[in-house]
Amino acid sequence: MSPVIQDLKKKLEEIKVQAREALESVEDVQALYDVKVGFLGKQGVLTQLMKEMGQLPVSDRPQWGLLVNEAKNFLEQVYQERFSELKSKELMQKLQREKIDMTLPGSVARVGKIHVLSQVTEELVAILSRIGYALRLGPIIESDFYNFEALNIPADHPARDMQDTFFLEGDYVLRTHTSPIQIHSLEKEKLPLRVVGTGAVFRCDHDISHLPHFHQLEGLCVDERISMADLKGTIRYLVENFFKKNLMIRFRPSFFPFTEPSAEVDCQCPLCDGRGCQVCKSSGWIEIGGCGLVNPKVFSKVGINFQKWQGFAFGFGIERMAMIRHRVDDIRLFPENDLRFVKQF
Ligand code: DAH
Repeated sequence: MSPVIQDLKKKLEEIKVQAREALESVEDVQALYDVKVGFLGKQGVLTQLMKEMGQLPVSDRPQWGLLVNEAKNFLEQVYQERFSELKSKELMQKLQREKIDMTLPGSVARVGKIHVLSQVTEELVAILSRIGYALRLGPIIESDFYNFEALNIPADHPARDMQDTFFLEGDYVLRTHTSPIQIHSLEKEKLPLRVVGTGAVFRCDHDISHLPHFHQLEGLCVDERISMADLKGTIRYLVENFFKKNLMIRFRPSFFPFTEPSAEVDCQCPLCDGRGCQVCKSSGWIEIGGCGLVNPKVFSKVGINFQKWQGFAFGFGIERMAMIRHRVDDIRLFPENDLRFVKQF
């Protein structure tokens, strides 16, 4: 054995001892890797030795290469062993940290519900759809034409007053009722028609029985022979099916610019069956909305021949219907979304 090789052997033994100590003393995978690179990486000690081979006499080269490679393999093996050791140690620590106590009570996921106002709306629409009414939705922002003009509400009508209407820029308003849906249908659809409109409406009003943002349900029926009797029958059907009771209804003469004649609809208080209670203020009756026969002027505005066609329309407050159905005495509870309230329905 040449002195060069003897020298190398000694050196490699020292390197192995050093490397083994270093690899076994580190406590995490990253540090372990850094140690490995120190010996086996591009600038590593063993790689340097390999490079030195080029300057040796040809006769020493094969053995030199063999010995360095052997040392490399040895260190690679030590590294791998230590690596798996550290990995499983890390895993055990992680499992320990994330230990799950299977005996703890679980947290129950709360299931959401359909809001009471949506429930009431869906039910009213379903009742009307059984007698041929199709659901129509209109835009919340309406032009003056749809919200007022076409409904025969002239420019000087009190309903346009600043106190009631939220005016937007230009010719637009937040719709103050769902009646504009009638106009959209009359413009677009073929006659005869039966439509039910619903959605949010806005008025500058706020107290125990008024909200600035509330909801309405609108019905419109147009055909060739329509009378107040059809209107009465339809409203009776709707009220009876909604309150699931055989309640009396009454029509009080009233005025709406878009209907002629017009009436307000009262229904016998479903809470006391008309005997008188707190909700109906001892009168036995509760007002639920307005209605009437479509004013021929409305037909004219949208180019429909009022000699041929007649119609009836009605508009109910959704919150009102929900308050009566569920005995809610403050309308402001609906938009608050207090879970204690919402959960009850
Ligand atoms: N639009 C009316 C309001 O908001 C309610 C109404 C009355 C609607 C009579 C109608 C109707 O369709 O015929 O006060």
